[in-house]
Parts: sequence; structure tokens; C-alpha cells
Amino acid sequence: MCAVVNVGSAWAQSVNFHADVAPIIYQECTACHRIGEIGPMPFTAYDEVAAYGEFIAYVTSIGYMPPWSPDPDYSHFVGEKTLSPTEIQTLADWVAAGKPEGNPADNPGLPDFPDGSQIGVPDAVLSMPEPYLHEGDMTDQYQVFVLPTDFGEDVSIRALEVQTGNGNVAHHAILGLDISGTADLLDAADPEPGYESFGGFGFSAESSFFGAWVPGALPVDYPAGIGRIIPEGADLLMQMHYGPSAIDESDLSEVNVFFSEAPIEREVVTAIMGPQFLPVPFVLPPGEVSAFHGTMPVPTDVSLLNIAPHCHLIGASWKVYATSPNALDTIPLISIPEWDFNWQGFFTFPYLTKVPGGYTLHAEATYDNTSANPYNPSDPPEWVYFGEGTEDEMFFVFIDVVAYEEGDELIALGPTDDGCPEDLSGDGMVGVSDVLLLLSDFGCQSACDADMNGDDQVTVSDVLLILGSFGGSCA
Ligand code: HEC
Repeated sequence: MCAVVNVGSAWAQSVNFHADVAPIIYQECTACHRIGEIGPMPFTAYDEVAAYGEFIAYVTSIGYMPPWSPDPDYSHFVGEKTLSPTEIQTLADWVAAGKPEGNPADNPGLPDFPDGSQIGVPDAVLSMPEPYLHEGDMTDQYQVFVLPTDFGEDVSIRALEVQTGNGNVAHHAILGLDISGTADLLDAADPEPGYESFGGFGFSAESSFFGAWVPGALPVDYPAGIGRIIPEGADLLMQMHYGPSAIDESDLSEVNVFFSEAPIEREVVTAIMGPQFLPVPFVLPPGEVSAFHGTMPVPTDVSLLNIAPHCHLIGASWKVYATSPNALDTIPLISIPEWDFNWQGFFTFPYLTKVPGGYTLHAEATYDNTSANPYNPSDPPEWVYFGEGTEDEMFFVFIDVVAYEEGDELIALGPTDDGCPEDLSGDGMVGVSDVLLLLSDFGCQSACDADMNGDDQVTVSDVLLILGSFGGSCA
């Protein structure tokens, strides 16, 4: 153990930008923090990162950056953006050591950020009909654009990918589908391109959520045989959230549509837990924190693809899980301890997740309608009811499901990085830095980053595993 401690402190002293900090920042931050993207300052070189070193150590220590609201100790999702305690410590150690630069030869280089689609050549591209001008008055804007599909028939799709036109202001987007023509009417009534709508698409949620986009995220690409149908003549709806800007910015965003090659055997449907599943009326008195607990029966075996709790600015937390009839089994689905309206997302499970028929789905949400909630739109707080407006609230959980089939648990929904757990530093190789990271996590008992064999602890067997692949490449 003595040797382990010594290595640990020597490691802390030798932390430098190119070898230790750049791999973390480039992987976890630069997708948003580069010119033309939503992050307010670029992190693409030593000088840029060093200039904000203290601020970076701070925002990572409190979990504010990278933005990721689900609790990674409760459940996991594709594209999880969280830093491990070791990574947070590395950033803090680097700042404490005076932000040494190190040897540029150790820099892993910037990741490849493709300009076009991240998943291939789209079968169709649906574009906003005209550019939208987002005024430079430092306010947020939520604008829904109606994208007619005109495919002439029902089409089966395996992926939708939002391609934003102006990354400086495109904060996030949600996608929906309208077969009623309502969105067209709302669009016609608003003089601007598209129409303004804060919470969702401005009308019944029945046909709504179809996906979401945040900067740097990979689109969901359904496994073979699974897909969604866009009915003939439907409109795709894209609600863009434009972040505050000091100068006028224009945007023309597009949605890349990928058709399913094989026929769809299982159609994705969206199960919606709404306020009708609550035992009490949905009303939020001023000055109070209110808690709600909805339950919804699961009639038959299903496999879950993704989940999206949805509320507005007064929402404070979510927990969604399923329980067996005898209450002995609980399947954790998502916990969002601090709801952040700005970073709401559609969270995709790493693998299809089975919930057996007969189970009960639970959604617990809390709302902070006090003046202590900095996002409360009313000061002093007012009575809040269910609705679409900024000052209204919502209680929805959208869950995309398919009928369960044997073996679904093995079907991955995103890239799996189980292939090279030994590559702890994420530099594509198993080397000294990985051994040092492992040693600094040695003895860890739960949620351990350096746990390679999945037994929830870091022991000699993990050391042997890493030594066994030492010098190997993970490409
Ligand atoms: C998904 C996009 C995204 C990622 C990934 C991301 N950021 Fe940010 N960051 C933002 C946005 C947008 C802001 C502006 C404030 C806001 O909207 O929350 C911001 C603000 C910041 C700020 C300024 C905070 C402030 O209050 O002004 C710092 C510092 C920062 N980010 C550091 C990081 C670091 C370090 C990482 C990686 C560990 C990271 N960010 C990852 C989008 C991102």
C-alpha cells in the first residue's frame, strides 16, 4: 500500500496540460467549447484552457459542467457526460500546480468533429423553410419550426439527426410529429418563421416527442428491425431553443432523416405518463415545495429505448422506476436530482431495458414554487397550474418502448466502450497513465472508475487485467 500512496502523490505533482488535462477537456468539453458552438469560450489549446483554469476547476467540482442532469449512480445512458472523481481531481491538481503546460508531444490532439452527419449519408434532409433571426437582446427564444415531410407514403425511419445551422445560439432542440395540421395553423398565426412556444409544441402532447438534440450528442440509431413510422403527410416539428446572444444571429437548421433498410418488425411507440396518473390534482401552491407520485401499470413485457421526464422552470427533481407486483424488485430508470430545464434531454439506455408486464411504473417529481428557486418565473411566487406557458408547469414522462423479445437485453443502443476498459485515460492506448489512474483508485468500493472486471471494487485482479493488456492499443 505504501508504494501505491507514493505513486499517487508523485502523480499529483507531475500533472500537466498536454498529458493529463487535454485528454479530459477535449473529450468532455470541446464539442461545445469551440468556435461556432454554444459554449461561451473555446477550449482548443493550452492558452485558452489555462486562461479559465480556476473557473474550470470550480464548475467541474460542483458538477455544473459538463451539463448532464441524470444521476450516474442511479442508471446509465448513451453519451453520458460526466467526469469521474479522478478526472475532477486531475483538473484541480493541475490548477493547484500552477497550470504547467508539459510537453506538446503528449497532447492527444483534438477529436474529429465532423461538419456533416455523424452517422452517414441521410436519405432525406428536411430544412427550415426560411432562416430565423434570433435577436441579440440577451434573451432565450423557443421557436417551433414546421417541416413538411411530403414523402408521399408512410416511411419507416431508423434515425433522425438535427443539424443546426448556427451553433453559436442553438442550445438544444426537441422533435415532434404532427398529423393534425395544428402546427401549421399556429405557424400561420405567428408573423415570424415558425411560431413561439416555450414548453413544447404548443398543443396536445399526444403525438409529440420524437427525439431531442443537444450539442455534441449522437442521434439515436435504432437497431435492425426496430423503427418509427412517419405517416404520410405528417409534419415534423422542431422546437429550437436559442440561447442568449449579444448580437443578432441567423439560423437555418435541418433534420437528417435515415430510412430503415429492413422492414420494421417492431414499431417504437411512446408511452406517456401524464397528470392523469396522479392521485391528486396537479396544482402548485405559492411558497411551497410540492411532491407528486404517479403510477401507471405496465400491461405486457416491453423493452425501453429512451426516457424523457419533462417539466418547466419550477420543476426541481425526478425519479422514475418500475416495481414488481410483490414490490421486491425495483428497476431504476432515471433520477434527476436537480432538474435543469435548459438541459432537458431524451436519455437513451445503453441496452434495451426490459420491464415485465404486471410491473408498475412510478414517477416521482418535486416542484419548488418558493422564491428560493432562482428559476421561478414569478416573484413573489403565484399559484401554478398545468399548461404550456413559461409560468405554467407540466408533469410528463415520455418513454419510447417496443414489445419485448428474448435477448433484447443484449441489444446495444449506442457505442459500447466495454471493449477497452483498461484505457482509463481514454487516449486509445493502455499505458503508464492508465496504471497510475488505476492505482489512484485502488481500494475503491463502489462506482469505481478503475473497476475493470465489473465486481464494483478495485483490487489486485484489476491490476492484473491492466498489466495483461499493457502497451496495447484500443483503437
Ligand atoms: C453540451 C455542451 C457543453 C459541454 C459538453 C460543456 N459545456 Fe461548458 N458551457 C456550455 C454552455 C451553453 C455554457 C453557458 C452557460 C450555460 O448555458 O449553462 C457553458 C459555460 C461554461 C463555463 C462558464 C460558466 C459560467 O457561469 O459562465 C465554463 C467555465 C465551462 N462551461 C466549462 C466547461 C468544462 C470544463 C466542460 C467539460 C468538462 C464543459 N464546460 C462542457 C456548454 C457546454
